[in-house]
Amino acid sequence: MRVEFVRLDGERLTLVLALEKGGAADCLHLGARLPASECLAALAAARTRGRHESQPDVPPCPGLLPERKAGWGGTPALEIRRGGAQIATDFRVSEWEVDGSGIAVTFADPAAGAEVIVRWQISAGDVLRARLEITNTGDTPLELDRLAALALPVPARFTEMTSYSGRWAAEMQEHRRAIRPDGLRRESTIGKPGFGGAGWLLLHAGQEALGAHLGWSGDAWLTIEPDAQGAGDGRAMLLMGAAWDAGTVTLAPGTRFETPEAVIALAPDRSALAQAFHAHMRSGVLPARAAWGARKVHLNSWEALGFDLSDAGLIALAESAAGLGIERFVLDDGWFGGRRNDGTSLGDWFVSDAVFPQGLGPLIARVHALGMDFGLWVEPEMVSPESDLYRAHPDWCLHAEGRERATMRGQLVLDLTRAEVRDYLFGCLDGLLRDHAIAYLKWDHNRDLFPAAGQRLGQTEGFYALLDRLRAAHPQVEIESCSSGGGRIDFGVLTRCHRVWPSDNNDPIERLRIMRAWSQFLPLEVLGSHVGPSPNPITGRRTTMDFRAKVALFGHMGVEADPARMSEKERECLAAHIALYKDWRSVLHNGALHRLAHPDPNVTGMMVTHCDKALALAAQTAFSPEFDAAPLRLAGLEPQARYRVTLPEPWSPKARHYLANPDAWRNGLVLSGAALMTQGLALPLTHPETAWLIALETIA
Ligand code: GLA
Repeated sequence: MRVEFVRLDGERLTLVLALEKGGAADCLHLGARLPASECLAALAAARTRGRHESQPDVPPCPGLLPERKAGWGGTPALEIRRGGAQIATDFRVSEWEVDGSGIAVTFADPAAGAEVIVRWQISAGDVLRARLEITNTGDTPLELDRLAALALPVPARFTEMTSYSGRWAAEMQEHRRAIRPDGLRRESTIGKPGFGGAGWLLLHAGQEALGAHLGWSGDAWLTIEPDAQGAGDGRAMLLMGAAWDAGTVTLAPGTRFETPEAVIALAPDRSALAQAFHAHMRSGVLPARAAWGARKVHLNSWEALGFDLSDAGLIALAESAAGLGIERFVLDDGWFGGRRNDGTSLGDWFVSDAVFPQGLGPLIARVHALGMDFGLWVEPEMVSPESDLYRAHPDWCLHAEGRERATMRGQLVLDLTRAEVRDYLFGCLDGLLRDHAIAYLKWDHNRDLFPAAGQRLGQTEGFYALLDRLRAAHPQVEIESCSSGGGRIDFGVLTRCHRVWPSDNNDPIERLRIMRAWSQFLPLEVLGSHVGPSPNPITGRRTTMDFRAKVALFGHMGVEADPARMSEKERECLAAHIALYKDWRSVLHNGALHRLAHPDPNVTGMMVTHCDKALALAAQTAFSPEFDAAPLRLAGLEPQARYRVTLPEPWSPKARHYLANPDAWRNGLVLSGAALMTQGLALPLTHPETAWLIALETIA
């Protein structure tokens, strides 16, 4: 048998595969772009060792499709059964097809009656997109218990990893550790990605970072296994896939199953990695991204009014919102059925007569007259036991016959695998969008899916089908994915949505960490970022308007507080930051994000460069151990270019009197990119809960 090599190139990336007809497919190189003259056979020879004692006589090659054969002991990429009996698979490469920067490798196992195709494609931002497909080529049903979307033999230089965990209001907590000796095994079971889970991973080789993500809005699994048994070649194996319960996916003869897409990006550091994912999101994931207009400033009624809704109260809120420069007014929970608290009426998607005696028309008309567009909150996949819908269709929720219907937040989950349930929801939502000028839906999902009742996969497919149908009928409506904050954020939902709600936690100190974590994968234009009230309802922390507004500006800005309860000074400060956001959003939402490093772990710095402009945020979250904090070094600038550097006002009252030469900062200091990136700027970063914006403009 003859090994052949296939080389695929991105802009800075080369992928080399070794393929053997009748044998295995392996990844020889994934990393820096190789010279065109590189000898691929020599590359293979350079990484091949002889056999050790006590290894199988022919060392197994798990490669792109790891199986339990020939002595390999890790988690297999697929598990299949026929007639209930587990099949010991032996898939071998039968053919491959290269198309530009993509490859499809077909593996066949005639004895098992199945064929698998591994598809890898390098796309914009040098992001590698991967998915697997299996076809039942036998003549009896094939039970599919597991199929990874991606199997990657991890290049050996990656020795550390960062995994994520989270909880409500504390999304995407990072955990960095060595890959060896015990690897990582994660699986979510709540029917959605969750607040930080199995769908996100970073691998580290010094500064170099590899990010991996599964674009799927349901349960996911992930394993990274060091080659502990010694039966491989020393590399760890990374597997990611959608998770479902064994016995719930069966393929009829001749049918196929395709996994969701996994994506991998590699970059010299974490800023470049963020930029790679953002480029991919902008060109290949977000719906019609190139046609997006400016991201409007939201005002959301939730933290301003909660369930205390009335026509008059909402109109008053809209009027004060318009005075701040708000561009979209969003009516959150509480507008429908008998929903006066969170224990009732989910499923009854009809405008409440009690709250809106004349319907939503007068409110929407007023919002429009004030120059804003109108958005609405919905939570379509849920039903309250206390609702007309549940009384009419008690069997429409996910449940196990004869078992307790356990609630969470007082609600149950509708079974979206049922066409009649999807039709009902489509009818309600379509009616709302036809009858009212609604520019945006905040699509919420506030509980875990239990019991899954065998529908872990089908529920997410049903959600996508409903969302796709609604979007096809109303393509102009923007949709946000919210799930008690960031419980359902992934590239699968983001092929269908325009915004996510990263967290219910609007406390700027918490939010800074959460935004920094999400922005490793997602660009700022999709990350909702709101100014909340002080004290914050979740943390109880009091922060100044200046600090809250500066932090909120670095995202898709909004307000989630009642301007009527702010002081005149706070309103002025907020309006000034909204105006700044409008000036800078084309930079923030199209540029390259840089994560700024600072020796004080309590300083969070981020910066976006775009064309001849840049804006940075430097925020101090806790008291500095130093009188004179280290200067903030900027990033992403042209070393030889000259920049005018200003600190846009308003300035934090707490920090402004520590600022030397205020006039110089107002008029602008002219410095080279080299000076800004090596020496940096000595800002007064000592007082907790203060932040600075730094504006840069290239000068000729
Ligand atoms: C969830 C969302 C919030 C808000 C409430 C309304 O918690 O994350 O933003 O919409 O539901 O009930």
